[in-house]
Amino acid sequence: MKILVIGGGGREHTLVWKISQSPLVDKIYCAPGNPGIAELAECVHIGAEEIDALLDFAKAEQVDLTVVGPEVPLTMGIVDIFQAAGLEIFGPDKAAAQIEGSKKFSKDLMARYNIPTAAYQSFSDHAQAVAYIREQGAPIVVKADGLAAGKGVIVAMTEDQAIAAVDDIMLNQVFGDAGASVVIEEFMDGEEASFFAFTDGKNILPLASSQDHKRLNDNDEGPNTGGMGAYSPAPVVTDELYQVIVDTVVKPTIDGMAEDGCPYSGILYVGLMIKDGNPRVVEYNARFGDPEAQPLLMRMKSDIVPVLQACARGDLQQDSIDWYDKAAVCVVLASGGYPAAYEKGLPISGLDAAAEIEDVMVFHAGTTLKDGRIVNQGGRVLGVTGLGDTVRDAIDKAYAGVKVIHWDKVHYRHDIGARALNR
Ligand code: AMP
Ligand code: GLY
Repeated sequence: MKILVIGGGGREHTLVWKISQSPLVDKIYCAPGNPGIAELAECVHIGAEEIDALLDFAKAEQVDLTVVGPEVPLTMGIVDIFQAAGLEIFGPDKAAAQIEGSKKFSKDLMARYNIPTAAYQSFSDHAQAVAYIREQGAPIVVKADGLAAGKGVIVAMTEDQAIAAVDDIMLNQVFGDAGASVVIEEFMDGEEASFFAFTDGKNILPLASSQDHKRLNDNDEGPNTGGMGAYSPAPVVTDELYQVIVDTVVKPTIDGMAEDGCPYSGILYVGLMIKDGNPRVVEYNARFGDPEAQPLLMRMKSDIVPVLQACARGDLQQDSIDWYDKAAVCVVLASGGYPAAYEKGLPISGLDAAAEIEDVMVFHAGTTLKDGRIVNQGGRVLGVTGLGDTVRDAIDKAYAGVKVIHWDKVHYRHDIGARALNR
């Protein structure tokens, strides 16, 4: 069969890599892809948000299954458009993608179905939002309702910070329309974990546990990023907690969406805060995590293609996934300066040497070709992922890969996976 993967980051490189191992697949296209993906798939020069052009391409090439990586095309309704044209596509439709696209939508869903999460209120009036912050006090969390490229959440330690955030979002419109309304919620402390489940809208197939490192610098210091590294399994998610998450979060979410006439299919990403063994939802995403996909898919033994296809068809019968009994750790190499401005076009060395290390994969995220050389282009550039018998081994593998790769001003954390070792 022919598969089209949409996107061009580390998550999509990992998906393409995993899909390429399936005996069911003859040909993989990726739009737009990146230089790492180009080694495994035919990259097509169509952006992930150019939905009409993607549809024309999928029809012309008779693509059997399209797999959507990023959230924006999902919230734009790519799934509805492909399905209307009779094409199979993996991911939630526009209505269901609101679970990520609107914080208010997801908070209201959780309230309706008693899914554990932080107490909240949503506001479209600035003065009321400010009054609520004064009443509740700090710490408190302010969230722009819509998509803001991962920057729309402000964890405020003082009331003044929270009010400044509301001013920025609602008055200064720093996130544009995404800030027409805000959700203001209780600050939760605890340890974060990421939980994923494949679903066809009715049945669920949960993945192994994982965790990412959101802060830029070692010891969880510095600003939030898209994720500086990830590992699987996550020891904080014990077998008992895993079942609690499935029963009290994942199942009620999928059942609730169906009950509301808005069934969710694809992969559901639940961001959790865990305190004293109890999970609460921080947020949902309508897609795979990046970088969590890197360690998760390196550990996945089962063929992913029948799962993707079954979700797209609404016929997910498989009730478990086989995993390698190993740990995987992904260290993100970022451009110096990220998540703020950074210099682009710097040549990257050592990729061939890293590729030769056994049980190490270098997934490309923000790379491009310039004068025949691979250079940095995005904030997060590479995801060096190691597989090992233990978390310690996987950490050593990943950092062995990191050590041989270099470019000017490369930035990475030195403590990815340390939280798992400390347990
Ligand atoms: P989100 O974009 O919703 O994932 O939020 C980004 C980050 O903000 C999360 O990964 C958490 O670290 C933090 N965060 C979001 N909501 C809360 C909350 N209610 N309490 C504490 N931290 C939060
Ligand atoms: N790792 C965070 C995300 O994918 O949103």
